[in-house]
This record gives sequence, C-alpha cells and structure tokens, in this order.
Amino acid sequence: MPYDRASSARPIPVRKMGFDFSKVPKKWFYDSTVVSHIANGLHLVFPAGEQFFVRSVRHYLKQIDDPALRARVRAFAGQESSHGHEHERAFEMLEAQGYDIQTWLKRYHRIAFELLEPSVPPVLRLSITAALEHFTATLAEQGLGTEFLDHAHPVMRDLLRWHAAEEIEHKSVAYDVLQAVDDRYAVRAAGLAIAVTLLLSFWRSATAMLLAQEDISKAQIAKERKAARARGQNKRFVLRALASYLRPGFHPDQVDNDQLARDYLQSIGRLAG
Ligand SMILES: [Fe+2]
Ligand SMILES: [Fe+2]
Repeated sequence: MPYDRASSARPIPVRKMGFDFSKVPKKWFYDSTVVSHIANGLHLVFPAGEQFFVRSVRHYLKQIDDPALRARVRAFAGQESSHGHEHERAFEMLEAQGYDIQTWLKRYHRIAFELLEPSVPPVLRLSITAALEHFTATLAEQGLGTEFLDHAHPVMRDLLRWHAAEEIEHKSVAYDVLQAVDDRYAVRAAGLAIAVTLLLSFWRSATAMLLAQEDISKAQIAKERKAARARGQNKRFVLRALASYLRPGFHPDQVDNDQLARDYLQSIGRLAG
C-alpha cells in the first residue's frame, strides 16, 4: 500500500511510570465529588478504549509499506499499553475507596467490545480511533497548557500530565494510518460522529454510576455541576478542536502543541524515555 505523507519526526518513547495511588483521596479534583467523578468516569472508559485503539490500528500493520510508519504504530501501541496499565492500577484505588466499578466495567466491555466492535467495519474502527486520538490530544493540550490540572491531587495530576504528553507525542499515528488506508472524507467524518456519540454515552454513564454510589443530595450535585460549568472554558476549546477535525485538509500535526509535551517531559526528566 503506498504511503506518501512525510512521516513525523516526533519521537514516541515508551515510558514505565509506576504511580503510587494509595494516598489519593475520594475528592481528588477541585475538592469536588462531582468533578472527581466526571474525571473518574473518563478514567474508567480509557484503558479498554485504548486497547481498542491499538487493535484498530494494528489490524492494518501488514498493509503499511512505510517502515517508519510501522515503527510509529508499534511505539503508539507501547505507549497506549503503558497508559492502560497505569489507569487500571488507579481502578484499584477506586475499589479501595469502596466503589463497585466491576459491574459497570463488565457491562461496558460487553456492549462496546463484544457487541458493537465486531459489528463495525475495520476501516470505521480505525476512523473512530483517529478521531478519539484527536480528542485525547485536544484534552492533553488543555491539561498541559492551562492551570486546570493544578486543582488535582498531585499523583492524579502527574498521571494525567504524563498521559497527556504522550497523547501529543503520538497524536498523528492513527490518523496517518487512516490516510494510508482510506483517505475518504466521509470515512473520517463518520468516525468522528460515532466516536463522539459513543464516548459521551459511556463517559456519562460511568460518571452517573459513581455518583449513584455517593451519599450526596441532588441539590449538592447540581451546585457542584454549576460551579464546574462556570469554569467551562474547556468545553468551547474541545468543540472548536472537534470542528477543526472536519476541515478538509486537516492533519493533527497542524496543531501546534508539541512544545507543551516536550516542556512537561523535560520538567520531570523523562523527555528521552
Ligand atoms: Fe493513551
Ligand atoms: Fe492515544
């Protein structure tokens, strides 16, 4: 299969981290139950979602002629596995805090990966992955480029900033594979539409499941949601980024956020790996 896009020179080292989540409190973000569970909800969706990304991209590995792109796919898979490993260790933290997450996780696996995944053609799975990789790189830019994560417990902040930096490092891998395999605009747009719908559904459901296990009044939930919305600059940023994904000629490398990732990794002494 021809591959004519100049491959990115951005290095994608796989880093082993080993965070210690044992002292993270329940209200670890903005000292808010609601905000903590909004973040925990995304957190529950991620590891299995990232394994899906890896399966979707690896499916095309043998069809990629360009050795540099093949190497980037392998490095991308290594980084995503490392993310999944750390996030699953954080699941143990949620269980130690008394939450039942396994019931929800089993239902999520059954619906997303046993029912939906096999019914979607491989190229659409790849397109959904490319769209979600743009979404994660967009969140990553917010996480590294604003003070948003300064309000998180230091261990969760470090987990999310490390993950964010690596999402920026590999932000164009799935997209480049999609372009090499099928560069039709309709495939890219359909992937984005399905990706956003599914992600928001599972994310909301995970957050609702966690909030249902809290002894917290509806009035308090509404108050904390209102406070979170008042700080809602992120939402507009994400919507703008998703809209830019639909621009003909879009490529993730056009988004100028590489230095943010490099600066953070340099600051923790992990730029090279
Ligand atoms: Fe990741
Ligand atoms: Fe990723």
